Amino acid sequence: MSASYRIRSAAQADGAFLADMVVEAVNWRAGGARPRHEILASVEHGRYIAGWMRPGDDGLVAIGPQDEPIGAAWFRMLPRTEPGFGYIATGVPELIIGVRPIWRAHGVGRALLRRLMDQARACGYARLSLSVERGNYAVTLYRSEGFAVTSPGIGRDTMVVRLR
Ligand SMILES: CC(C)(COP(=O)(O)OP(=O)(O)OC[C@H]1O[C@@H](n2cnc3c(N)ncnc32)[C@H](O)[C@@H]1OP(=O)(O)O)[C@@H](O)C(=O)NCCC(=O)NCCS
Repeated sequence: MSASYRIRSAAQADGAFLADMVVEAVNWRAGGARPRHEILASVEHGRYIAGWMRPGDDGLVAIGPQDEPIGAAWFRMLPRTEPGFGYIATGVPELIIGVRPIWRAHGVGRALLRRLMDQARACGYARLSLSVERGNYAVTLYRSEGFAVTSPGIGRDTMVVRLR
């Protein structure tokens, strides 16, 4: 399956799909079914996509064989006054990633993550951060790509990767 998808830059029109991926990230547990509207209406989750795409937002979308979006990874700079769960400092963008369930475990997430790290490096960023709930196997992916836990929180960890 890995040969049948491609990755392109995210555009403004991808906002609704990115919102889908925020919902996937919140509902990562098997059986996780918090309603989409409730997740996106919440200030703390909604801020990962509110107003997409703003200056400084950057992302990638994986596209499947029927030209359908199957996964996305993006970063945005959230201010200290309206931080994401993975906020660590001014000037450090926070990363979000999600892959449609039927496409998981086929390398799409790792490919998106690697490409996005390259993109952030090319933009001149020194670090990327993220937040992951404890128990989510995504941690294994992040660790294997160089992320390390900086601040353990209640039920979730903030992880950071150095890009240079
Ligand atoms: C996390 C996620 C983005 C990873 O994308 P993916 O395409 O499934 O990941 P990949 O196929 O590239 O696998 C990357 C690594 O993740 C881990 N992984 C993937 N699927 C796994 C599974 N079912 N069980 C345990 N580990 C798994 C492995 O370490 C894997 O590396 P390996 O293939 O070398 O063993 C995707 O599974 C997802 O959307 N999950 C739900 C949303 C979510 O949790 N987002 C992150 C919130 S912080």
